[in-house]
Amino acid sequence: MEKRGAIEIKNLDKHFGENHVVNGISLSVKPGEFLSFLGPSGCGKTTILRMIAGFETLDSGDISIDGESVIQLPPHKRHVNTVFQNYALFPHLNVFDNVAYGLRAKKKKKEEIEQAVKKALDMVQLTGFEKRMPAQMSGGQRQRVSIARAIVNEPPVLLLDEPLTALDMKLRKEMRYELRNIQQKLGITFIYVTHDQEEAMVMSDRIAVLNGGNIEQIGKPEEIYKHPKSAFVSDFIGETNAFDGMVKDIKKDSMTVVCESGHFLAKTDYFAEGEFVNVSIRPHKVQWSFEEVEGFQLKGMVKDYIFTGSFVSAVVELVNGREIRIARLAGEGLPDMDKPVYLFWNPEDAVVMKNPAGNVHDIIEEIDLGEWIKK
Ligand SMILES: Nc1ncnc2c1ncn2[C@@H]1O[C@H](COP(=O)(O)OP(=O)(O)O)[C@@H](O)[C@H]1O
Ligand SMILES: [Mg+2]
Repeated sequence: MEKRGAIEIKNLDKHFGENHVVNGISLSVKPGEFLSFLGPSGCGKTTILRMIAGFETLDSGDISIDGESVIQLPPHKRHVNTVFQNYALFPHLNVFDNVAYGLRAKKKKKEEIEQAVKKALDMVQLTGFEKRMPAQMSGGQRQRVSIARAIVNEPPVLLLDEPLTALDMKLRKEMRYELRNIQQKLGITFIYVTHDQEEAMVMSDRIAVLNGGNIEQIGKPEEIYKHPKSAFVSDFIGETNAFDGMVKDIKKDSMTVVCESGHFLAKTDYFAEGEFVNVSIRPHKVQWSFEEVEGFQLKGMVKDYIFTGSFVSAVVELVNGREIRIARLAGEGLPDMDKPVYLFWNPEDAVVMKNPAGNVHDIIEEIDLGEWIKK
């Protein structure tokens, strides 16, 4: 069967009164793709989702799903479901009944409903919670119920509007990976809206960065991270130091990543040894020492200082020519130019993304990794 869930958006335009909220955007989303709209509050993310879902009219343009224009169709005929920020469960219904609600409304057979609900709860790891009431569950569990409810009729497209925002930081980080796993297992298209760049980075196949109703840039997370096409994107995404590498030793709280310049520690989130990753570390998170730091081997010399507003960056050239920036508030102090420095950071500060296109041979050939690989 052909994969469903292709979305084509053409010249989508929307005003609210004088406010030009969506400014003629176009993009295609492939079946099974995880695409995020990333942008600051008020840039039109929710409006775009609502137009795709059918809750908002468009001024002009077209939206088609699997080759058919849907703009004349009511929401329930569009084969898309939406997960909202504030999960909106029915408080008087238990988990099973919340998830079953839509199928019952469609008068599906009892056995069919039971099977579908079981499968959806299994997908979000809530098997056994059927009888619980929403009030007896944590925020994360409730959000999983709302995801189960949205996938129970197996839509080819799921729209998610900042679904993790209401959760605390720790849970939010865990749920990122769960959502990504659910998306991969279902193989359906996810359109994900967030203002959190790290969230978009670690989850998405592609990111569309929005600014005032325009797509500033669309591409893979690492492309956007490494090659921001506009000042807005680089400001919003933030300047970063990016490394391609491979996961080595995984310990309880951190893992070693080998890269072309040496190796370093990063946080461990759900990676496997031998896996290829792209790691980003913000200039203001990079620390230095005049002595080697355990777990890190990134040695270099400062070759330049760059002044930008109230910040100063030291540009450190690593042994293989790679440049890393350390940023500090002016006056906070940076290493001198004449002594070798050893770079390190708190492993928690390194943002790790999978990099399926990575290639161990490239990495091994580029660096003298012989010693590492043998260990
Ligand atoms: N129903 C509405 N009526 C009038 N203005 C709206 C309405 N919905 C959104 N807006 C305005 O449209 C702009 C984009 O809103 P929205 O799509 O919610 O942004 P985001 O989700 O990116 O924060 C904002 O300026 C907002 O105030
Ligand atoms: Mg919004």
